[in-house]
Amino acid sequence: MSKRFYITTAINYVNGQPHLGHAYEEIVSDVIARARRSMGEDVFFLTGLDEHGQKVQQVAHKEGKAPQAYCDELAEDWKGYTRALQLTIDDFVRTTEPRHKTIVQAILQKLNDTGHFYRAEYRGFYSVREETFLTDKDRRPDGTFDPAFGEVVELVEENYYFRLKEHQPWLIDYIEQHPEFIHPDYRRNEVLGFLRNHTLEDLCITRPLSRLNWGIPLPFDPGYVTYVWFDALVNYISIPAAHGDPLVCAALNLAPSTTTPPLELWPADAHVIGKDILKFHAVYWPIMLKAMGLPLPKQLLVHGWWQKNSAKISKSTGNVVDPLAVVQEWGVDAFRYYLVRELDLGPDGNWTDDGFASRYQAELANGLGNLVNRSLSMLKRYRNGIMPSRHDELSGDALKAFRETEHHLRGYHLKAALESIWGLVNRANQYVDQTAPFKLAKDPAQAARLDEVLYNLAESCRILAVLLWPFIPSSAEKIYAQLGLAGAPLNLAEAAWGKLPGGHAIGEPAPLFPRKDLPPKSP
Ligand code: MSP
Repeated sequence: MSKRFYITTAINYVNGQPHLGHAYEEIVSDVIARARRSMGEDVFFLTGLDEHGQKVQQVAHKEGKAPQAYCDELAEDWKGYTRALQLTIDDFVRTTEPRHKTIVQAILQKLNDTGHFYRAEYRGFYSVREETFLTDKDRRPDGTFDPAFGEVVELVEENYYFRLKEHQPWLIDYIEQHPEFIHPDYRRNEVLGFLRNHTLEDLCITRPLSRLNWGIPLPFDPGYVTYVWFDALVNYISIPAAHGDPLVCAALNLAPSTTTPPLELWPADAHVIGKDILKFHAVYWPIMLKAMGLPLPKQLLVHGWWQKNSAKISKSTGNVVDPLAVVQEWGVDAFRYYLVRELDLGPDGNWTDDGFASRYQAELANGLGNLVNRSLSMLKRYRNGIMPSRHDELSGDALKAFRETEHHLRGYHLKAALESIWGLVNRANQYVDQTAPFKLAKDPAQAARLDEVLYNLAESCRILAVLLWPFIPSSAEKIYAQLGLAGAPLNLAEAAWGKLPGGHAIGEPAPLFPRKDLPPKSP
């Protein structure tokens, strides 16, 4: 048994349908998972749903459904969406599953037994309509609360708290000494700034049943359920526990599974998350793990937020991008390509329909699609689809793209990897224009030169398929099939030059990205 490369996404609140932000995070994670597999690693890719808490309970009630029935229905949609985006997930967690709930309870019990929690009274202002405590930040300049909060009452409530203060010094040291822990750098600096300038408040980890019942009951006090974040973060280890992960099982005194061979997953290699949930992952989660006696995840990959037309994505204003509608109209690969090519892991992004359509047209249809189609069609027409013998004119360009792509994939610079790959797409398209094989074909004296050119083009297409597979798997597989190659381009080492032998018969060329009429430009 050896440790797998374990990558996770945030688990999504199941209070609506997936949107662009969710799709981005899932696709980035899938590209990383596929890339690691193509570099020969065993990978475990986990995503899923965060089903407890007030938000979900409220939406379910609004729709007149019991929370569990509501979650069960939506879970089917979300699972369908992992298939539509061609995510190569190894498991799908739902926090209402018994395998998750028992682990959350085991952790609560352990941390309570070891003195990490205490019970205390909280006095504060409470919005009855919003069912939430208000803080001074919710006050208007004149000191009153917005009428949108409805009736505000002073409420006294007993809850359980997790002692955090004692953890602050080691956490600061840890983040300072492990610069790779939070990527990109500026997100690490944000966390360090916060930790150095604030004293951590102890974390309230319960809600009284009288206020919220859609949660996991505290094993040591039936009057409470767990706070949704305490529940949700645990998914990253409850699923390893369900697969018999030895570190997690030992820390929680669980009997190792006897039914399936255990998987070594923890610590996670990468938690992919959005910038809004950084504090939960960089502060609370490490402290929870330390208290349990488990090592910290190796890296948090923190992405920015998407807007549409420079405005917040919002269902209520209708400013949304429906991932499934885009996939249906343009194909899943066009969607995957655009998101990763447009937005690096870190900054915020802006979706525009025009921007999407013009990348599709320029980079996919006229760039990659045109290269593959004309290269293979000429090979078919002029040489009956039979590869001429090897020639190495573009081998240096291909090697450069291969090396750069591998380097960028290892460093999670996915946008840069695509730029390197397009270095080869553009070079090969330029090579067609410069060598003009359609002219060479008319001159029998140029037959040997035409052989050379056709070999270089077809071999470049093969290498592109290998490099592109993590990003746009269906198209990469189509290129392979059109080249007459069996299987899928799953192994990055295959991007070495010269693997298509002379005499090999290719398959049938067909357009990869049909050209589309561009939508009218917005004013
Ligand atoms: N359930 C919590 C996460 C618990 S993880 C232990 C949650 N769910 S969420 O559905 O609100 O968000 C899921 C992920 O989607 C988060 O990483 C969040 O940052 C990301 N995004 C939500 N909207 C987004 C954009 N508009 N743009 C990019 N990503 C965004 O938070």
